[in-house]
Amino acid sequence: MTDTWIVTIVADGRELRVAPGTSVAAALLGAGITTVRRSVTGEPRGPLCGMGVCFECRVTIDDVPYQRACLVTAKNGLRVTTAQQDAS
Ligand code: FES
Repeated sequence: MTDTWIVTIVADGRELRVAPGTSVAAALLGAGITTVRRSVTGEPRGPLCGMGVCFECRVTIDDVPYQRACLVTAKNGLRVTTAQQDAS
């Protein structure tokens, strides 16, 4: 497989290489990032439904907060910030 078939995103400053078509949520989970945000009481939250319904996968993508990671397809250079970096 050549690099043409790899998409690189940056999550909390860490480069993640995934196959084209991979959702941001799948990329994060594949990298072992299971907590992407915190509840109002501080409990860890991560992707649950994987189809845009539960809103548990909200992250900041390219400086836009509250994006559902399961609905966004990974693209080269996309920057993701999770609860490990902020409180969204
Ligand atoms: S995992 Fe449920 S909305 Fe993204």
